[in-house]
Amino acid sequence: MRWSPLCRGAAPGINILSGLCSVTASLKIEGREGVRRAMDYKLPRAAESFITNLTGADADEVKKYVVEFRLNQEFQNSVEGKRSAFSQNRRSSWDYSIGAALGLVLYVICRRQKPRIVVETGVASGVSSSHILGALEQNKHGRLYSIDLPGWQEDRSGWLIPDYLRHRWHLVPGRSSDELKPLLRKVAAIDTFLHDSDHSYQNMLEEFQTAWKYLKSGGLLLAHNIDNNNAFSDFCRGNGLKGYSLANLGGIIKA
Ligand SMILES: C[S@@+](CC[C@H](N)C(=O)[O-])C[C@H]1O[C@@H](n2cnc3c(N)ncnc32)[C@H](O)[C@@H]1O
Repeated sequence: MRWSPLCRGAAPGINILSGLCSVTASLKIEGREGVRRAMDYKLPRAAESFITNLTGADADEVKKYVVEFRLNQEFQNSVEGKRSAFSQNRRSSWDYSIGAALGLVLYVICRRQKPRIVVETGVASGVSSSHILGALEQNKHGRLYSIDLPGWQEDRSGWLIPDYLRHRWHLVPGRSSDELKPLLRKVAAIDTFLHDSDHSYQNMLEEFQTAWKYLKSGGLLLAHNIDNNNAFSDFCRGNGLKGYSLANLGGIIKA
C-alpha cells in the first residue's frame, strides 16, 4: 500500500489547504483572543466550494460549522491529549492520516448532510473517524462503521478517537475485500461512504462499485488519495458521474 501524507505536500494542489494543516494543538482557544480567532477563521475557497458542490451548504452554513468545530474544546483536548501520549516515543500514523485539514472538511460535510449510516474503510489512528464521529455527536444522530486491517504501527485501530464519541462507532477488523459486502448487506443502506484503505487501483474500484449499490439517493461517496491512480476518475467516467475533488479527496453525489 502507498502512504500519502496530507501535510507533507505529497499531493498536487495540497497548497490550497496549507493554512489548515496545523494539528489540533494550534486550535487551543486561549481567552477572548482565541475565541475571536476561531470566529474569524474562514475555510479556503476551494474547500468551501467542494463542500457546497457536494452538499448544497451555503457559505454561512459552512462557516457556522467550522466555527463550532474550532470552539469545541472537548474534541480538541481529547485528540491532542491522545496524540501526544501515543507518539512520545514513536512515529505516529497521524502523519499518514487524512489530516486535520480534510478532517475538518469531513466534519462540515457530515454536519450538513446529517447521515444516519456512514461506512469508512481505513482507520489507522482514526483521524477521519474522529472528525466524522464528532459531527454525528453534534447531530445527535447516526453511526459510523469502520473497516480496518490493523497491523501497521498501531496499538489498536482508532486509538485517537475520543472516548466520548465511541458510543456511535462500530469497528469491523479485516480486509475491505472480505468485510465490505457483508457489512453493507447488514446495514442495508448508507448515506456516506469514505474510502481510505488500500489505495491499489483494483481495491479502490471494487470498493466504489460495492458501496455505490448501497448508497441512498442523495448519498455521498468520498475517497482519499484519489491521486494514487485513475480508479476515481475511471469510476466517474464509466458510470457517467460528476466527480469533485479537493486536493487528494474526491467526492460524488448519488442522484
Ligand atoms: C491511510 S490509513 C487510514 C487513515 C485514516 N482514514 C485516518 O484519517 O486516520 C490506511 C489504513 O487502512 C488499513 N488497510 C490497508 N489495507 C486495507 C484493506 N485491504 N482493508 C482494510 N483496511 C486496510 C491500514 O492498515 C491502515 O490502518
